[in-house]
Amino acid sequence: MQIVILNNPADVAAYGAEIFKQQIRRKPKSVLGLATGSTPVALYNHLIDANQSGELSFKAAATFNLDEYLGLAGAHPQSYRYFMDTALFNHIDIDKSQTAVPQGNAQNPLQACRDYEAQIKAKGGIDLQLLGIGRNGHIGFNEPSSGLQSRTRVKALTPATIADNARFFADGEYQPRLSITMGIGTILEAKKILLLATGASKAEAIQATVEGPLSAACPASALQMHQDAVIVVDEAAAATLANKEFYKHVEAENQKLLAQFSLE
Ligand code: PGA
Repeated sequence: MQIVILNNPADVAAYGAEIFKQQIRRKPKSVLGLATGSTPVALYNHLIDANQSGELSFKAAATFNLDEYLGLAGAHPQSYRYFMDTALFNHIDIDKSQTAVPQGNAQNPLQACRDYEAQIKAKGGIDLQLLGIGRNGHIGFNEPSSGLQSRTRVKALTPATIADNARFFADGEYQPRLSITMGIGTILEAKKILLLATGASKAEAIQATVEGPLSAACPASALQMHQDAVIVVDEAAAATLANKEFYKHVEAENQKLLAQFSLE
């Protein structure tokens, strides 16, 4: 894993956006794995700016989102399909038919999960997967106890996640307790993984991800098994890392070393 510690959330978003831009420039037909939540919004805004200024095109790209609430149709304002349309897809030149989000209102959710896996395979797999992280260490809706080789499936949300996400729902509004989520095994097949985390509330989960044991108790710790995972955090989310100074030093040295090579 590469651990990148930056000053603040704005720097984290800009750094993450740069990785996405490089990926799309290098391979316009990239298959991108996308995430919902508060954390990716600033990164998406960078991508919208780059697209609208003509710097970057998504015309050839395809996307797969990590997860969706089970029981919500895509037109529902609380669905992750709706979130993605309003936060990103409606503002860029991507072909909407090439943007996939698990089908929250599927008649047969188990079949929808199998179909989602098949769709990802048919596209040749995910080139770059964006992740946020829950305070409990979840990635996608892979809550603690998720199998580290799990595939796309129906997963119950923990009370902690339901409480964290309650802020998006109005008082008395129906809040789903089940989801369809890519599995950890699905996520680990992405060629490159970029996890972003900001704020003190994520410090414990980041410490467990980076320095804890490989464990289903912290699903994000599975990234320790990946050959190209980049964890980008701000100072607040990095606060409890035991080896924080080492990561900072290594990153700085790597940047100097990399500058000596042509990476194209
Ligand atoms: P957040 O959610 O970006 O809104 O903090 C992250 C997550 O739960 O994966």
